[in-house]
Amino acid sequence: MSKSNAGPRLPRAKGIDMATYYSPRDCAKRARHLILSEFNQKIVDEFVSILGMREEFEKFHVPIPNKVVMYGPPGTGKTLTAFYLANVLELPLVLVRLDAIIHNSHLGETGSNIRKIFDYAGMFPCVLFLDEFDAIARTRDNNDEVKEMARAVNTLLQCLDDFGDKSIMMAATNLEKDLDQAVWRRFDTKMTYSLPDKGKRQQYIQILIGEFQCDEAAITEVSEQLEGCSFADIEQIILKAKRKAIIERQPLQRRHIQESCDEYKPAAASS
Ligand SMILES: Nc1ncnc2c1ncn2[C@@H]1O[C@H](COP(=O)(O)OP(=O)(O)O)[C@@H](O)[C@H]1O
Ligand SMILES: [Mg+2]
Repeated sequence: MSKSNAGPRLPRAKGIDMATYYSPRDCAKRARHLILSEFNQKIVDEFVSILGMREEFEKFHVPIPNKVVMYGPPGTGKTLTAFYLANVLELPLVLVRLDAIIHNSHLGETGSNIRKIFDYAGMFPCVLFLDEFDAIARTRDNNDEVKEMARAVNTLLQCLDDFGDKSIMMAATNLEKDLDQAVWRRFDTKMTYSLPDKGKRQQYIQILIGEFQCDEAAITEVSEQLEGCSFADIEQIILKAKRKAIIERQPLQRRHIQESCDEYKPAAASS
């Protein structure tokens, strides 16, 4: 299926699409098994409830929230949350990697390219997801191309202010403190992501193992061992282990996971 044919024509820079369009159905496929902290789950649930009560909010003249910023280490579910929300809200997702836009813009065009993206997302209700958000929102005075970035940030601020309430805007960043305060203030919903604790690791490993047979004690032990791993690391390790089990035509065993850990060596778990 051609994604670019599924929505209005995507804006381009130097002949390359500046965004990727995912239909609600694409989002549904990707959004399975999101594990959130209780805190974030509550935020998401409340967000969804509010969007289902638009009229009530209008009646009381209380603006509805529609700008979410997510921050935390890589592989903890920020991108997945964007797909999840798009799926729950039955909206298409427009995914933009801001670092790519900046990199791919001629000097002086970063701002206008950002505007093109917002214009595009303004054509239909959607979730506009700006990934690698820190690429632009970094404090204005710590960048090489200071003026270019200052202009781009100003454009971004305007775009955020003009963003209609029929759509949702989401942004993800690995850094919290480098974000421009003026940008930061524009968001009505903030979510922090962190590496999974033992309970969450165990829960996730259970899900990943799925219908493969594996003894409980091994899962508990592995969950302990994978301290410091992100969800994405754990996913890679368990997939690797499953492959080993399949080629050996064996049930999934502790040693498969152990070997996978040794081979994968996620930064945090290797020492
Ligand atoms: N909280 C989570 N719950 C379930 N799976 C996750 C979670 N975080 C990451 N993953 C797995 O790792 C992959 C990469 O995660 P992603 O959402 O892109 O992380 P981030 O955007 O925070 O860097 C996901 O597609 C999913 O398979
Ligand atoms: Mg991501």
